Amino acid sequence: MYTRLSCSKVFCPPWRRCISGQCVCKMPYKCPRQDKQACTLDGSHYYSMCQAKAISCRSSEPVFSHFSSACGAEEKVEVHLRKSKKHNVVMIKTAKGTMPVCGNGWNMASANVVCRNPQKEPRGAETATTIKHSQIDKASDWPEECMSVRCTGSELSLAECTIYNPQPITESTDVAVVKCYNPKGECKKFLCTNGKCINQGKACNGIDDCGDYSDEMCCQRCNGAFHCKSDVCIPLDAVRDGVRDCLGGEDELDENPKPVEIKPSDLFSDPMSEIRAIRSSTESQLQCGVPNMEYEFKQNATLRQRTKRLVGGEEALPTQIQWQVAIQDEGSIHCGGAYLGGCWVLTAAHCVRPKPKSYRIKFSLWKKHQMLSTTDSIPVKNIIIHHEYNAQTYANDIALVQLEPLNLSDKCMKDNPAVRAVCVPWSTQQFQPNDTCTISGWGRDRAGMSAGILKWANVTIISDCKNYYKDRFLPGMECAGDLEGKVDSCQGDSGGPLVCKDASGVSYVWGIVSWGEKCGEPNNPGVYTKVAHYFDWIRFHTGWAAVTKYNQ
Ligand code: ARG
Repeated sequence: MYTRLSCSKVFCPPWRRCISGQCVCKMPYKCPRQDKQACTLDGSHYYSMCQAKAISCRSSEPVFSHFSSACGAEEKVEVHLRKSKKHNVVMIKTAKGTMPVCGNGWNMASANVVCRNPQKEPRGAETATTIKHSQIDKASDWPEECMSVRCTGSELSLAECTIYNPQPITESTDVAVVKCYNPKGECKKFLCTNGKCINQGKACNGIDDCGDYSDEMCCQRCNGAFHCKSDVCIPLDAVRDGVRDCLGGEDELDENPKPVEIKPSDLFSDPMSEIRAIRSSTESQLQCGVPNMEYEFKQNATLRQRTKRLVGGEEALPTQIQWQVAIQDEGSIHCGGAYLGGCWVLTAAHCVRPKPKSYRIKFSLWKKHQMLSTTDSIPVKNIIIHHEYNAQTYANDIALVQLEPLNLSDKCMKDNPAVRAVCVPWSTQQFQPNDTCTISGWGRDRAGMSAGILKWANVTIISDCKNYYKDRFLPGMECAGDLEGKVDSCQGDSGGPLVCKDASGVSYVWGIVSWGEKCGEPNNPGVYTKVAHYFDWIRFHTGWAAVTKYNQ
């Protein structure tokens, strides 16, 4: 079962990183520095909210109270429940005094946080409701204001949530009421990963009824919530909020309706702005998946000839596929590869032997036997073949080529406007069957002729490939093409990329051309190494920063 910590489905918060599909607590020193210091319950100062949260992540104890530029002076935020008839009214104590939490914006995510602490019910709340202020038994000192809070649901205390400045209470004001979860007997309804039992109808509504988000992770559609392609439902207030929640970024596209903006002056404490800042600073560090448009197709467009060669392919324009490389082995080219950035190229294990000296990697190559002005040829320093590669079965057909650094430099290539890196997918859920992606290479056409000019073709990802290849189809493989056999990769395309583009327009190397029964045969689609399956292996060899800007 998936939860909010399953990073094959959702992003880790900035104080966690994704290892083998789970968000684990980050080492506090891995947090980026921020201008704002974190205020903490024990009075110590941390250099960022990320660092404070990374520490409390390990201890499971809340360490910070809330954020302010002037740390220290502010009082800590405390929460308690106040009984009124059968209701538990949620009370919040801040530097502004003690007052009820407003009903406006009150939801399950916040209620879960309240019940986990101080009630210590790890599964959170049973219900989050509101009552009219007029229904409360009030003592004479009852406050005349309430404060709204908004949590994401993963906070360890209400103090870590977004808190708004006090609003005056009128007779019609609603205030927040909570009932904490109380397990009763066997679950005949929806069983959350954390053991909480909720009504079936509460799954897939964008509301974290479980408290671990497990009711929102596998939804073909969402009820009153935004549906991510990876089948996760996210609440509407997370759409267009400046933080990407869906793996492909579809929640942040301009075409989505923007939620009503809250004036910054209304905020008492705003951890979301910190999260936005950390996310955007780490996410701007890696450039990949976007071609250099300035350069793309600059060359004479009349060069284009629509010869339908290779298996259903079309000739590329010069500098069109900027991450495509050719692997030159003792002077001749039999394989392609994908540039990952830095000094790294990804290819198929069956394309290389552990003899770096035999190879050169050609960047910005178009015609196989002729250079462009942008073509660069780079020697190889090291070749890393997957330790479980099996040449008989093609299992784990993946290899990394490490380029030789330039003299007196840690770079491996001079800046080249016609070369861009493709991104490495970190999750096997980023693309799905029936998605259309692109293959490219200098491989053979149906007649067995090898292409003189780089070609490309669109293919679709095919599900249940065991149906076609039986036991030859292994974990870590992905099929793509079409079942009629109209498009396919072929001999000579191996090692080259199968590239898919996400909703935000960023391209990922989803597959590596590996094998297939002949080429372009009906019901024998091309088989690709499923790159996302090897994310941890790639990251282990290249280091974090080289391959991912997310979850790191
Ligand atoms: N193994 C081949 C190569 O070395 C690639 C074959 C791809 N075949 C296919 N039908 N998709 O080039």
